[in-house]
Amino acid sequence: MITFLRILLALAIVAVVALLLFIFVPARTTEPHGDLAADWQPQEGAGEYAMRLADCAACHTAEDGVQFAGGRPIDSPLGVIYSANITPDPDTGIGDYSLEEFRATLYDGVREDGAHLYPAMPFDNYRFLTEEDVRALYDYFMTEVEPVENAVAEPELPFPFNQRWALRAWKWVGLPDTDRETETFDGDGDGDGDGDGDEQLARGAYLVEGPGHCGACHSPRTALFVQDGFTADDETFLTGGEIDGWTAPDLRGPDSPPQVWSAEQLARALATGRNIHASVVGEMALVVEDSLQYLTAEDMRALVAYLRHIGRDGPATDDPDDDAAPETADVRALEGLVETETAAMLRSGDPDMPLGARLYIDNCSACHLVDGLGADEVFPELDGSHLVTAEQPTGLIHMILEGEELPSTEERPMRLRMPGFGWRLSDAEVAELASFVRSAWSNSAGGVTPDMVADLREEDTGDQAASGQ
Ligand code: HEC
Ligand code: HEC
Ligand code: HEC
Repeated sequence: MITFLRILLALAIVAVVALLLFIFVPARTTEPHGDLAADWQPQEGAGEYAMRLADCAACHTAEDGVQFAGGRPIDSPLGVIYSANITPDPDTGIGDYSLEEFRATLYDGVREDGAHLYPAMPFDNYRFLTEEDVRALYDYFMTEVEPVENAVAEPELPFPFNQRWALRAWKWVGLPDTDRETETFDGDGDGDGDGDGDEQLARGAYLVEGPGHCGACHSPRTALFVQDGFTADDETFLTGGEIDGWTAPDLRGPDSPPQVWSAEQLARALATGRNIHASVVGEMALVVEDSLQYLTAEDMRALVAYLRHIGRDGPATDDPDDDAAPETADVRALEGLVETETAAMLRSGDPDMPLGARLYIDNCSACHLVDGLGADEVFPELDGSHLVTAEQPTGLIHMILEGEELPSTEERPMRLRMPGFGWRLSDAEVAELASFVRSAWSNSAGGVTPDMVADLREEDTGDQAASGQ
């Protein structure tokens, strides 16, 4: 009996020691990728460009706050996490960070003091950053950004999620293996790492999988909130995700934008937020405004070539440089000038039209037109829009209630605005209208109930009250 107790005691001690080691022994950090000479210096502007690619400003700047001074609240499923102050202020910012410590935040999500960061910071994607970009970023933040004193609030998370050490366990499953780097960045897909592949595709892969962290929103997540798919080798990579109730669409399926749009139109949507089919809204508008509009033409071509290359059914079929490739809407228009039943019905002005159709004529057709095809680069197409037909109708309902503003870019500075209709349409009317649009023309998505609208309306007013508007 005594021996048995001794064994139990010994086991208990081992468990406690293991837990203490787990909590207090620093995690090993990832080595630099490749070997770059110690005296390597980034070219002028390289740091700022890497910052644009990785979109550090988007999260690390609070509304009306100083750039990079942090404090922007980021909603997670468990509670609010505030972004850090990443100006070189020694007390409240990252002024004391060495290059090694800075790299560890980007590759391993480990802070200077050894604490683990929440994956609200996309270090799981930044793990793929090249050493050149890491050093350029470090140089930029340390020498080109002004220090700002701003102490940022602790995350508002319930126990046990407020225990940072526990994130170490999450990282065992949540962090991708960067040894696979050779396979994807090689570009020829044969995985031998000899770098004799297509340089343009390799660059595109780097931009999307690394700094661009497109997968953070466009890949699904597992039950443990781990990003499901980090590189094109993963089948689930970029096959669609959810962010704040909005759907970030599948980018690899046969009907996805990179597959059905020409290279030229895809590039226009990403660089200016609009093309002849669609316009970007919500979080994607911020990605365009803060990050993608700054890509060099060469990098944009690489990104587009890669996105069109990784389709689930193989690469997009037409030549990526062939601007004359037929566009789906043009084809539809050519094929028939055949009017869809919906367009014919709307045009007829029949007084017996269903309520949803009448609401569309009264409120929407002036801009999006009866054929649902809108006007190139001004009013997006609602026929075939993935936002309209997304499984979750949240994005569409939000558009009807609140409206939305197009991002302003250097090339297309005008902020075209779609007005909101929440003030004049009841929940039941919005539901009728949304259900109509989801099944009009060639669309065939499920209906929307007044309850869904009521819930969203409440959330939107809640958000506004919280942000003091
Ligand atoms: C999607 C949002 C997001 C993006 C993009 C982002 N960060 Fe962060 N970052 C955060 C959040 C949130 C935290 C705080 C996490 C926490 O408290 O655990 C953070 C923490 C940090 C920290 C730790 C600072 C400290 O001492 O607390 C550093 C350094 C950092 N980020 C640098 C960067 C850099 C450099 C970039 C661009 C390459 C970047 N971040 C892009 C959200 C983001
Ligand atoms: C912060 C989350 C987020 C990130 C990061 C993000 N996206 Fe998106 N993206 C979205 C959402 C949400 C939508 C749906 C709204 C829309 O269609 O504009 C979207 C839409 C799109 C669309 C369709 C646009 C349209 O108008 O139909 C493309 C193409 C796209 N994203 C590509 C990318 C690429 C490439 C990257 C990486 C460089 C990226 N996204 C990064 C959230 C994100
Ligand atoms: C005054 C012109 C105007 C009216 C009226 C209007 N819209 Fe819009 N709509 C726009 C503009 C401009 C955009 C692009 C906004 C953006 O991307 O930020 C847009 C975008 C959209 C989108 C996003 C499409 C996509 O694929 O990105 C949807 C959905 C939409 N409108 C639905 C409607 C519905 C439904 C109505 C009627 C209740 C309506 N709109 C009325 C101008 C209008």
